Amino acid sequence: MPRRSSSSSRWLQRQARDSFVRKSRQDGYRSRAAYKLLEINERDKLMRSGSRVVDLGAAPGGWTQVAAQIVGARGTVLALDVLKMEPVAGATVIEGDFRTAEVRAAAAAVLAGAPVDLVMSDMAPNISGIRIKDEAAAEELALIALDFAREHLRPGGALLLKLFEFPGTDELMRELKRNFDSVARRKPEASRAGSREFYAVARGFAPGCGI
Ligand SMILES: C[S@@+](CC[C@H](N)C(=O)[O-])C[C@H]1O[C@@H](n2cnc3c(N)ncnc32)[C@H](O)[C@@H]1O
Repeated sequence: MPRRSSSSSRWLQRQARDSFVRKSRQDGYRSRAAYKLLEINERDKLMRSGSRVVDLGAAPGGWTQVAAQIVGARGTVLALDVLKMEPVAGATVIEGDFRTAEVRAAAAAVLAGAPVDLVMSDMAPNISGIRIKDEAAAEELALIALDFAREHLRPGGALLLKLFEFPGTDELMRELKRNFDSVARRKPEASRAGSREFYAVARGFAPGCGI
């Protein structure tokens, strides 16, 4: 039998110890990430019954499940990931690389010109370990999500954006502040303490500002 690498063994051990992993299995969520969105939405009320939501970097689908439950049959959820994702009841799923114009056009076609209430992005690049490369990849994904939000949010809409504590992130936060009335940082309990990840909650989209 092939031996597991020490990093994948460590990952498996950490998963087994993790209370959010256990809870997600009990609650029927596909990922522990579901609890990050539940905590943020509980505090910030980003979506409600009837909301129109876009979920970028959605696989395996924890956030999509949470969003579909909250918006209900009157709302819509468009979920997108470069990885294949099992369908989620009440959501439309697109498979493709969001960095490509074709995939963004496919998402725009599903939205069909109707403005959305919330764009959320949990997209994260594959970490190479080369710091400068990883920072650039994370920043690229965040900027593309911000551009998409600027194109498709209704005035007053919101953006929930995964960011990382990198040197360039302050400038990204300033860019968010130029486009939204308020911007807050959130580090939900389910976000691992040792990770550089945090979430920006940007509310009150003001079209035309910051461009
Ligand atoms: C942290 S996971 C998302 C977890 C998800 N929110 C959940 O609740 O299950 C990050 C996701 O971003 C996706 N991703 C990374 N780069 C992408 C890209 N260029 N286009 C689309 N998805 C991308 C990855 O495939 C991965 O599934």
